Amino acid sequence: MTGPTGQRSTTRIRVGAGPGTEPYEVLVGRGVLADRDGLHRLIGPRARRVAILHPRALTDTADALRARAEELGYETLALRVPDAEAAKTAAVAADCWEALGRAGFTRTDVVIGVGGGATTDLAGFVAASWLRGVRWIAVPTTVLAMVDAAVGGKTGINTAEGKNLVGAFHPPAGVLCDLAALDTLPEDDHVSGLAEIIKAGFIADPVILDLIEADPAGARTPSGTHLAELIVRSVRVKADVVSGDLRESGPREVLNYGHTLAHAIEKNERYTWRHGEAVAVGLVFAAELARLDGRLSADEVRRHREVLSSVGLPTGYRGDRWAALLDTMRLDKKARGDTLRFIVLDGTGRPAVLADPAPELLAAAHAAIALPHTGAAAADPRPVLVLNGPNLGRLGSREPGIYGTTTYAGLVEECRTLGKELGLDVDVRQTDDEGQLVRWLHEAADREVPVVLNPAAFTHYSYAVRDAVAQRTAQLIEVHLSQPHAREPFRHHSVVSAVAGGTIAGLGIGSYRLALHAIAAG
Ligand SMILES: NC(=O)c1ccc[n+]([C@@H]2O[C@H](COP(=O)([O-])OP(=O)(O)OC[C@H]3O[C@@H](n4cnc5c(N)ncnc54)[C@H](O)[C@@H]3O)[C@@H](O)[C@H]2O)c1
Repeated sequence: MTGPTGQRSTTRIRVGAGPGTEPYEVLVGRGVLADRDGLHRLIGPRARRVAILHPRALTDTADALRARAEELGYETLALRVPDAEAAKTAAVAADCWEALGRAGFTRTDVVIGVGGGATTDLAGFVAASWLRGVRWIAVPTTVLAMVDAAVGGKTGINTAEGKNLVGAFHPPAGVLCDLAALDTLPEDDHVSGLAEIIKAGFIADPVILDLIEADPAGARTPSGTHLAELIVRSVRVKADVVSGDLRESGPREVLNYGHTLAHAIEKNERYTWRHGEAVAVGLVFAAELARLDGRLSADEVRRHREVLSSVGLPTGYRGDRWAALLDTMRLDKKARGDTLRFIVLDGTGRPAVLADPAPELLAAAHAAIALPHTGAAAADPRPVLVLNGPNLGRLGSREPGIYGTTTYAGLVEECRTLGKELGLDVDVRQTDDEGQLVRWLHEAADREVPVVLNPAAFTHYSYAVRDAVAQRTAQLIEVHLSQPHAREPFRHHSVVSAVAGGTIAGLGIGSYRLALHAIAAG
């Protein structure tokens, strides 16, 4: 599989896409993106144009790919999209459609998604929906996207109601996993991807577990001796499963090992946890369930805990949230017309379904992973809500002379990026609906989460927003992009200011920046 250096050669894994769709290959190796002929074959002879979607962090990789495509004679279009989940919105997809339309993108042209799973999910969705489906290539640049998100043909975006609710099955023409891309990936993101690799080990390929146990530190770094093999083996597990079940009608369910609880934790943490961290806890929970149901030995459960913690993944979760987690799991399943089902193991490599387990079994498995609240939360970044009122979703196109040219997606990206630097987990939301804003303020009060609030026009007349702000249990800073006192008289009065912790106005996006700095400092 690998050359004498363990680094240079490329492994090709075939994914049989299923009835009506072409099989495709996942290429894994260092330097696969530099192979011009391979890229040419993948884009194909019928395309004239190539659109490359990427977040800011992958600009260099996208630029190099663009230059290569241009040398090959294609017209190229680079579309920089917001980072991470901020890319998976209908508004961003609409921006991409608009750009494809302007560029005269036809049915034979090709979309390339360069980035983590969020970017490849968006790129695949844009490709699936443009002209009812154009060819696309996935260039995953995180461990998680290489072994999971980019393989299998599921594409999609999020809506206000939940994650991945809108999407399509649209397999790529090929997946290029260039291990060199991982050199710049932050360590926490790298480690998060290892949870999916470990999952693949438990459901189908125990050699993965042996390799990690032999060198856990190596698994955590792009230069680790076994990393290429771990990725190849995990892609093979996913490829084998999805090849027989493109549309998730049956066997593909085993890939959900650990995911039923993980999704509930992610939702409970308002998506401030990395996916792999939540999956790691979910794996231990599912293993405990299997042990309590007489399927798995205590040694095998211990192996789950040891292998996950050896690479730095969590194996427990705060114990005070069980009722909320259970509600979320039940509601999620109901929304999908399903009952509560868990993938469990009848031994390593032997997944099975446990449907509707007894409440006492669930509670006992939960007790086995429960942590005291303070222990779990101490190391977490502090959550902050940035709430935006009416019309702010139209930033960029709305009266730019007053509100600036930064788009709403740009505002979201700025707040999240600055939040990360300040050790805050920033969740940015916008609504045109007064009731929704009030409900979010209640949520902030109940969770004791600090808020940066731009109430927009509600500032001047909404006593409902004012009364919700008055219930705050943590810092709340009112912000405005423009200076209200320099504008129409009706904007001179804020009904919110008297109950806010502070007000910052007139500095454009700088108002939000200062507010986040104040929250981080206080
Ligand atoms: N379609 C599927 O079957 C499937 C499966 C699993 C997960 N997903 C989706 O994948 C997403 C999570 O993917 P993810 O964990 O890759 O997160 P991500 O796409 O949000 O990327 C994580 C962060 O790493 C940055 N990044 C990516 N590659 C980098 C690199 N090489 N160097 C520096 N920074 C880099 C990104 O810009 C982002 O900030 C979720 O939206 C999830 O729903 C989809």
